[in-house]
Amino acid sequence: MALGVCYYPEHWPEDFWASDAQKMRDAGLEYVRIGEFAWALMQPAPDIYDWEWLDLAIETLAAAGLKIVLGTPTATPPAWLTASEPAVLRVGPDGRRLAHGGRRQACLVNERYRELSRGIVSDLARRYGLHPAVAAWQIDNEIGNHGSGRCYCDHCRAAFQHWLQARYGSLSALNTAWGATFWSQTYSAWVQIPLPADPVGGGHNPSLVLDYRRWASAGQVSYCRMQAEILQAHSPGRPLLTNIAPGDDEINWFDLAAEVDTIAWDNYPHGFPDWQAVALFHDHVRGLKQKPFWVMEQQPGPINWTPTNPPVPPGQVRAWTYQDAAHGAESVLYFRWRACWLGQEQYHSGLLDQASRLSRGYGEAQTVAQEWHAHGQPVAAPRKVALLISYDDLWAQQLDPHAQGWSYWRLVQTIHRSLTNHGIGVDVLRRGADLSGYSLAVAVAPMLADPIEAAGWMDWVAAGGTLVCTPRAATKGQDNRTVGEAFPADLTDLFGMDVAEWTALDPARPWEVTFTNSASITAPMWAEVLHPTLANPIARWGGSYAAGEAAITACTYGKGLAVYSGAYPTEALLAELWPRLLPSAALLPANIERIELTDGILLINHSEEAISVPLPGSWRDRLSNETGTNSCYLPGLGVRWLTQ
Ligand code: GAL
Repeated sequence: MALGVCYYPEHWPEDFWASDAQKMRDAGLEYVRIGEFAWALMQPAPDIYDWEWLDLAIETLAAAGLKIVLGTPTATPPAWLTASEPAVLRVGPDGRRLAHGGRRQACLVNERYRELSRGIVSDLARRYGLHPAVAAWQIDNEIGNHGSGRCYCDHCRAAFQHWLQARYGSLSALNTAWGATFWSQTYSAWVQIPLPADPVGGGHNPSLVLDYRRWASAGQVSYCRMQAEILQAHSPGRPLLTNIAPGDDEINWFDLAAEVDTIAWDNYPHGFPDWQAVALFHDHVRGLKQKPFWVMEQQPGPINWTPTNPPVPPGQVRAWTYQDAAHGAESVLYFRWRACWLGQEQYHSGLLDQASRLSRGYGEAQTVAQEWHAHGQPVAAPRKVALLISYDDLWAQQLDPHAQGWSYWRLVQTIHRSLTNHGIGVDVLRRGADLSGYSLAVAVAPMLADPIEAAGWMDWVAAGGTLVCTPRAATKGQDNRTVGEAFPADLTDLFGMDVAEWTALDPARPWEVTFTNSASITAPMWAEVLHPTLANPIARWGGSYAAGEAAITACTYGKGLAVYSGAYPTEALLAELWPRLLPSAALLPANIERIELTDGILLINHSEEAISVPLPGSWRDRLSNETGTNSCYLPGLGVRWLTQ
């Protein structure tokens, strides 16, 4: 584990660099990420390169003993490039071509942009690939950010049509897969196939749009692969990373992560609704490769791009950094070194303020570095519970939410938040992942049926696993067309029931669900009336014409249990469900996070109010060597690392 910082030497006078590097070392930082937006400086004109400044920056940082993460600068093409090759500029869903000025304005599918990218990445990799201080690479920056994951230019239109040709082989196969007989959509030439941004009446065919989304994601992923291949060739042995921005859900992160050695993400907790959503993203990123990840950018203090940009109280940066590590981050780099004097992010804080004074964030980074130097770094324990998600399900449900307010991500968040609040650690895995080693898995609205996965789930449950499934399971095939059988397709034997009736609910008229021996719970959004064959109802509908019918069922299958909820899993509903399935589930005090580590637990108080958390047995505080406590005092934003 190491701490580091993101640095832009090109933003500062050269005579700052050596003292900046020394202050980084004084803070205990080991990594410094540079270079990712500097294409125009590296290549000021088509045939002119300037490496002198970067040579000097690398030498200066290396001389201080810092390890360099070098970024490829392809998120920001130079103005000469976009002026001479305007066709590389992306076209938005409104049909307008982007202009030069911000970043991520290029179309990553465009062959000419790829050629130009190959050029600068190869030059950079040849020059620095074997430099002893270059410890790792960052490919591009936040691929897909600023809505850049989907482009609607003519190049993309042709590339999409070509991809469909390879995917389906023939137009008749495509017409069948898309159900093109509906509204006379049958295509007789590949060039007739539209892009989903083309204006139409009544909306585009959902099968076409889902395929477009898959294609768009695959294009971003193959661009990353293209850079990875160059870097592997010129810089053997240096890990390749790329950094994800949460919320950019146009790219299948599982696929992107497969192209790099280690995946990284950019953690700005103020961009999230709550600390549990940050925990979810950590668990999602850890699940991408099922191995430790990096936080390539960690919020160091107040930022500039949320609606309110609130303060960051003392202790917060340390608590965030501990949360990173306990969820599996092996390195954490703060963004940014010094608050900037130029450009779009002048109101963003850094570890230094604009006058080069050390900020509170610097002090807290230094504290963490000292603590981890003295005590080691917290290491996440393997989790026993898996949340199964899929980008195809996300995209298909975004296309057709059906119920007002239905959001796949909000559903994932609600389930994860509820598990987190009950002290249950979770791995967020791709649907289809191997579940051996897990005792419970939650399949989140697995809408697109997959018979192979269904067979795998049956084997896993038969061997003792507990599978929990939410509404909207297996109602469509992978082509986004409804299956011609009872829902959930391929899974009715496993769950011992089928869905007799389903409906979206009027927000003003939710139904009710009642577990045996419990008070009724409001059940909004969605309702499936279940028809048990072998399953037992564990909760029934109320407050509607379906009163008394099964709402949640549990079916013993081999040595395991298959639980299906026809009700939308609100936190209130899940609070009833978990204790019935997970004996260790117990609601924690509000704002307390409890994370299992390989050698104990980490408690984080995410609120500014002090609290005492009761604990069974007696624990030792690894950071302070305090012993014998069975109630743990946590100051506001306090962190305690407890071992038995
Ligand atoms: C990230 C981005 C950085 C910087 C930062 C500001 O999304 O990668 O370059 O813009 O946000 O918080």
